[in-house]
Amino acid sequence: MESIIDKLTSLSKRRGFIFQNSEIYGGLASTWDYGPIGAELKKNIKDYWWNHYVHMRDDIVALDASILSLNKVWETSGHVQNFSDPLIECKDCNARFRSDALEISKGVCPTLKCSNTSFDDPREFNMMFKTNIGPVVSDSSEIYLRPETAQGIFVNFENIINTSRKKIPFGVAQIGKAFRNEITTGNFIFRTREFEMMEIEYFVKPQDSEKYYKEWINNSMEFILSLNIDKSNLRLREHEQEDLSHYSKGTTDIEYKFPWGWAELQGIANRGSFDLDSHSKSASKNFSIFEEPTKTRYTPYVIEPSIGVDRLLLITLLDAYNEEKVESNNETRTVLKLSPKISPVKVAILPLSKDQKLSELSKKIQRDLLSKGDLGKIEYDETQSIGRRYRRQDEIGTPLCITIDFDSLEDNKVTIRNRDTMLQERVNLDSLHSTLIKEIKDY
Ligand code: GAP
Repeated sequence: MESIIDKLTSLSKRRGFIFQNSEIYGGLASTWDYGPIGAELKKNIKDYWWNHYVHMRDDIVALDASILSLNKVWETSGHVQNFSDPLIECKDCNARFRSDALEISKGVCPTLKCSNTSFDDPREFNMMFKTNIGPVVSDSSEIYLRPETAQGIFVNFENIINTSRKKIPFGVAQIGKAFRNEITTGNFIFRTREFEMMEIEYFVKPQDSEKYYKEWINNSMEFILSLNIDKSNLRLREHEQEDLSHYSKGTTDIEYKFPWGWAELQGIANRGSFDLDSHSKSASKNFSIFEEPTKTRYTPYVIEPSIGVDRLLLITLLDAYNEEKVESNNETRTVLKLSPKISPVKVAILPLSKDQKLSELSKKIQRDLLSKGDLGKIEYDETQSIGRRYRRQDEIGTPLCITIDFDSLEDNKVTIRNRDTMLQERVNLDSLHSTLIKEIKDY
């Protein structure tokens, strides 16, 4: 039976969500390109996050730092020494994999058709990608692509405090690409070598860090639930002390029940003052804050909620994917019940036929709705039968379709079809915009 990941991969290709990178040349493994519909979905997810945390709060400011930095940044952050996974090589087929893959395969080489059980000793493999800066390729021109966006925030701490004039507690939010030379990738866009992150570094007084750590765990969970994700597919998992990253005093993952089991969706870490302390020492800077009432200085602790855009997008697809029996025609329809907050297309305009008068009225309706500027992407489609067009809109998760028929030319009314209930409602053109806004809000 086809797995849900296989179904999503083929739906993604068929409808323009996600394509295999370099597909025409055979494909670069575990590397994906977002198509016309997927790029809209990804942007809507990032905009929703940005709006929720940066625009709607007065205590969070923005940053957009470079992917490249001086190597000193990664030496000081501990990534050069510590950002590694244990790598094991099979003595028979020479396949290389992470040591946890061996635990899952119970000591047998996890490569298909290899039954070997002896391996070289594990060695630490640093996951940072290297490239060369400038025209000369040499050791001294080597530079890393960032494996997390967070360091851009720490090294700009002083600049941000001076220009934003924010007081503790405050946060800095950033969305951007990160690169990790993962030993094991896979499960579609779950684990890739190039991905996008949405991170906040929230600076607090050390004595308040436990309170804010808990607060960020709760509000991160609420944010995910606000995208209509089924609560029973989410859980919290606190890291054991020995599993913590080199910088962390405590980490809790929000895990999602993926088809292959529970796995990390988002991490919330209490990084203490590790990063600010390291950079202030290494750059001979003073990042401490003077507190007037107590006349004391302290280095802020930082709470970090960090989530991959691609991983969040994957769970919105997994959670929204439904196959339903339609009683009226005994067919099965595939429908993505995405939250309208992030649907790639909010409204589709579907004239019943290609008749010129219907097209003119339909295009005018599209222009009028677009001019309001608050409905996002509005698609116009007059090809194929109305049934097939509904099916396409269901598969890309469009919450509302508007059908314009020959009666519309006479009575100034159109039909709105709801994606989830498939109920149809006839509304007057004068109230079309307000009805659409209300229906999207009430979804
Ligand atoms: N600055 C903290 C940090 O980098 P992380 O747990 O390594 O923490 C944060 O990464 C989030 O980034 C993860 O929870 C996950 O959503 C996403 N992520 C990490 N590695 C990824 C990969 N190889 N492919 C896709 N997403 C990834």
